[in-house]
Formats: sequence, C-alpha cells, structure tokens
Amino acid sequence: MDLKLSIKAISLFFVLAHVTIADATIFDVTKYGIGPGGEISQALISAWKEACVSISPSTVLIPAGTYSLGPVALEGPCKAAIGVQVEGTLKAPSDPSLIKTDGWVVFEHVDQLTLFGTGTFDGQGARAWKENDCAKNPNCRQLPTNIKFNYLNNALIRDITSKDSKEFHITVLGCNNVNFVHVTITAPGDSINTDGIHIGRSTGVSIADALIQTGDDCVSIGDGGQQIHVQRVTCGPGHGISVGSLGKYRNEEPVVGITVTNCTLSNTMNGVRVKTWRASPVGSASDMHFDNIVMQNVGNPIIIDQEYCPTGNCNNQPPSQVKISRVSFKNIRGTSSTQMAVKFDCSKSVPCENVEVGDINLTYKGPQGAATSQCSNVRPITFGALNPKLCMISGGAQYL
Ligand SMILES: *[C@@H]1O[C@H](CO)[C@@H](O)[C@H](O)[C@H]1NC(C)=O
Ligand SMILES: *[C@@H]1O[C@H](CO)[C@@H](O)[C@H](O)[C@H]1NC(C)=O
Repeated sequence: MDLKLSIKAISLFFVLAHVTIADATIFDVTKYGIGPGGEISQALISAWKEACVSISPSTVLIPAGTYSLGPVALEGPCKAAIGVQVEGTLKAPSDPSLIKTDGWVVFEHVDQLTLFGTGTFDGQGARAWKENDCAKNPNCRQLPTNIKFNYLNNALIRDITSKDSKEFHITVLGCNNVNFVHVTITAPGDSINTDGIHIGRSTGVSIADALIQTGDDCVSIGDGGQQIHVQRVTCGPGHGISVGSLGKYRNEEPVVGITVTNCTLSNTMNGVRVKTWRASPVGSASDMHFDNIVMQNVGNPIIIDQEYCPTGNCNNQPPSQVKISRVSFKNIRGTSSTQMAVKFDCSKSVPCENVEVGDINLTYKGPQGAATSQCSNVRPITFGALNPKLCMISGGAQYL
C-alpha cells in the first residue's frame, strides 16, 4: 500500500519535473566567465544565484567539457523550480586541504530541485585515500563528500555520475521526497570510506536503477531514515546495502519503512545488513523488507549484527538497545563467499521480533562444507524453501 502510493507520487513527480525542465530558462555557466584551467566555481555560483531568483522555472547548464570546480554551496530557497544540468566533467581539487568544508558540491534548502545530465562529478580522491588515517586515528578529519543534499523537498536526481569521491559520494540529510533515478557511482574497491549514497533523517527517498561500485557501503541508511525504497540497484564491489550503523549516538530517530527490492550484489563484503552498536542508547528500526535479491560471491549475504563494534573493545559492554522488528528477507539467492550465509545476531536485552525469512537459496563452496546460518536472540518465522536451513543454536536458546 505504502509502496504503491509512493510509486504514484514518484510518477507524478516525473511528469511535473519534465514539464519544468522543458519550459525552463537556461543559465549557461560558460557565459559567466571561465577562469584559467577551466575553473568555473564563481561562474556556477553566479549562474545559480540568478536562476534561483527567477520567478519562472530555470535551469543552470554546465555544457560538455572538462572544468575544475572548488567547493560550492548552492543554496535556496529559490523562487521557482530549479534544474542543474551537468553535461560536462567537473573535477575537484585533488589536494584535500583545498576543500575546508565537509562537502564539495552542496545543495541546501531547495524545493523542486532537479539535478540531471550525463556529466560526471569527479572527486579526484586518490590522494585523499592515501592520506586517510581514520582506521587508526579516531579524530581524523572528515573528508568532503562529492555531493551533499541537505534539507531539500521534492528533488529528482537523474542520470549523473559521481566518481572517485574523497570520502562518501552522496549524502541525503533532512530531506523529504528525493528520488534518484539511474545514477552511477564508481570508485575502486579498495578506496577508503567511499560509501555510495548515505541517507539520514529523511522521509521518502527512492533510489532506482543505479549502478554503485565503491570501496564502502553501496547504500546506507542512518537514523531517521523513513520510507526509503531501493530498487533495481546493482552494487559491487563495496560493503553492500546497510541499515545502520545505529545506536552510536543519543537521541537517534527511528528507522521505519525500508524496502530493498530487485537488487543484485556482486563481490561485496556484506549483502543486506542491519547493524547496531553494542552498548547503544535506546532506539528502533522496524518495517524493513528485503525482497528478490541476487547475491554473487557475497560475504554475509543476510546479516543482522547487533554486536557491531569496529573498535573491537566492546566485550564488557552491555548489549545494544536498538529494537529491531518486522523485518523480512524473501527470495534471496546466489552464492556466498563466507560459510555463514545467514546470521542473525540480535540483542540479548531487546531480541529481534517478527523476523520473516523465506525462499532463500544461498550456496557456499569451501573446504568446511555447505553454507550455514546462526540465530541469536531471535525466533525467525520461516516459509518456502530455505538453504541454508535456519538456524544453528547459539546464545539466547529461549528464542529458538
Ligand atoms: C521486481 O521484479 C519483479 C519480477 O521481475 C516485478 O514483478 C516487480 O514489479 C519488480 N518490482 C520493482 C519494485 O522493481
Ligand atoms: C539452489 O541453487 C543451486 C545453485 O544455483 C541450484 O543448483 C539448486 O537447484 C537451487 N535449489 C533450489 C531449491 O532452488
């Protein structure tokens, strides 16, 4: 019901967006003065400012070509619907110290934004990945995200490519009704923290028909993610599709209403994952449905991990208090690169509730034998064929 409604809303939005773009006045950045080396930061800001005060729909155009672009914030509110059409390749400075903010291109406080075109946002991250010491240094600097969408209502992001970001590629924060259609995100599998799309504190976000190949999560959904729909997305390499991590901070908002449908994951470290920190404050994640997913050589294809503790010193800490409920994993098939193909490691203090699992066929080839599963502090409701069978006993026997 919810999904159907939101698909209707999305189609209506396409129609509106199409009309908007067709009738828009064009503001071509190259008419605003290109600096040495194809530098367009000032030109883009000037074009945006003029377009933003236009009382009829407008489009800022970055035509085909290669340009260098410093950090820019494109801010609303604007007077009418606004488009940004990128046909060229935008290159960020490769030296991370030349971007002082946490975003390279930031869209903020805009209603009815359409970002589209066949162009590329190239974060030129190779140098930043080499200098990234976050694995060892907890106070490491947050490196800039390629594209940040902050506090937008009714945005459409179509066809663009984000490449080699210094850290996260795209973040969505504090937004309502944002639809990604056919975007491409690429970075090498060994690039550090180059998550594809991260969504936090936003309602009504859809990602459809995307190709996301990175060194970290393909799509991650943080606290306050509500009505998030991921469909026909191809991921890998990277770390898979993740809800969380949740429960690191106080006052996190609930995660509600996630669907991941018709996706393919290849050679990712994890498949579909819900992860919460050990020793977390109270929180919740519910109504999360994973359906029709193909796994090709994926580690931990199905995993709920409430013992998440990347710092590795959580042994004496209390269990997570993030309550996970109404979750389903349906029609998930393919090959696992780890013997443990299905792992539900739920919290001892707030066991998972209403976890449904069915029509699973995950095979593993290795010297230890066939694929296995494990359930702690959860009693899954099963249906259809299950390979591996659920579950081997571990902890929380009262829930088995
Ligand atoms: C998923 O795939 C099935 C089977 O091909 C199709 O019937 C369904 O409409 C698809 N749903 C989405 C959201 O893509
Ligand atoms: C599970 O997948 C394997 C490998 O693709 C296949 O041989 C087997 O028939 C499948 N089992 C079911 C029950 O579909």
